Amino acid sequence: MKVISTKKELQSEMEQITKAGKTVGFVPTMGALHDGHLSLIHRSTAENDVTAVSIFVNPTQFNNPSDLEKYPRDLQHDLSLLEKNHCDLVFTPAVDEMYDKNETESVFEFDFGGLDKVMEGKFRPGHFNGVVQVVSKLFNLVQPDRAYFGEKDFQQLAIIRRMVELMNFNIEIVGCPIVREKDGLAMSSRNLRLDKEERQKAVEISKTLFESKKLVSNFSPEQVQNWVIARLNSLPGLKVEYFEIVHQKTLQPMHSWSEPAIGCVAVFCGDVRLIDNIKYNDAQ
Ligand code: PAJ
Repeated sequence: MKVISTKKELQSEMEQITKAGKTVGFVPTMGALHDGHLSLIHRSTAENDVTAVSIFVNPTQFNNPSDLEKYPRDLQHDLSLLEKNHCDLVFTPAVDEMYDKNETESVFEFDFGGLDKVMEGKFRPGHFNGVVQVVSKLFNLVQPDRAYFGEKDFQQLAIIRRMVELMNFNIEIVGCPIVREKDGLAMSSRNLRLDKEERQKAVEISKTLFESKKLVSNFSPEQVQNWVIARLNSLPGLKVEYFEIVHQKTLQPMHSWSEPAIGCVAVFCGDVRLIDNIKYNDAQ
């Protein structure tokens, strides 16, 4: 497994791989890897000749400085996991390798036709601009055939798909299902920041989402939404930032169950912000 930290070396490596006629799968991450990340890597190794992973805690997508500072980092552990999981190449740039001096401050503006105005976009201003800024740079450097993203960050996946359309990237975006802990909690690097008590409370998030699925046949999206928010807020230690039931494609609020809907939630568990989601009427 090659570990590369400069753009120049990465580009020359990718050139050789492409010249050899090999297909490339790419998995961008911010490290602190867990089985959710590994599921994307497994999918990529199954579908491509070469799998490249990036580990970069991207400062421009953090709207909260303390979240950036406390973001878990363990490069040595990540590298040994990647090696064991047949990753071929890891890109681990420093911040000044990815960004010019003033660039991290500059606002990168894109029009996502409303996709970025709701949920995460509403509560984390500038977040998706930062995600698009870094992912577009990484796509330009790696130029993969396929790139893998988790449905855990459902809105991010929708925005990346739109970005690929808008910027004419010739890359297939592959969405992968949420990987959960045994008790249902969606895996997340931020789970490492939960203490024992918070960890026990955090499981209520997925439990509540699963239970809400049973309400669909008798209640409207608004009623289900209110039930989820009230239930989670009634549990000490949990505070809902938003829970919205939206269209799976447009991410706009749903008022009936006539189209595929998804419920997306952001909850503070102590001071750790966790997100999760559930698809309601996929089959329709
Ligand atoms: P990060 O949070 O490290 O996640 C990297 C990828 O792993 C994302 O596509 C995310 O959706 C996926 N992922 C995380 N937890 C998952 C789970 N439990 N099940 C399935 N997939 C999961 O998302 C980012 O990093 C960044 O925004 C990034 C795209 C790298 C840009 O900086």
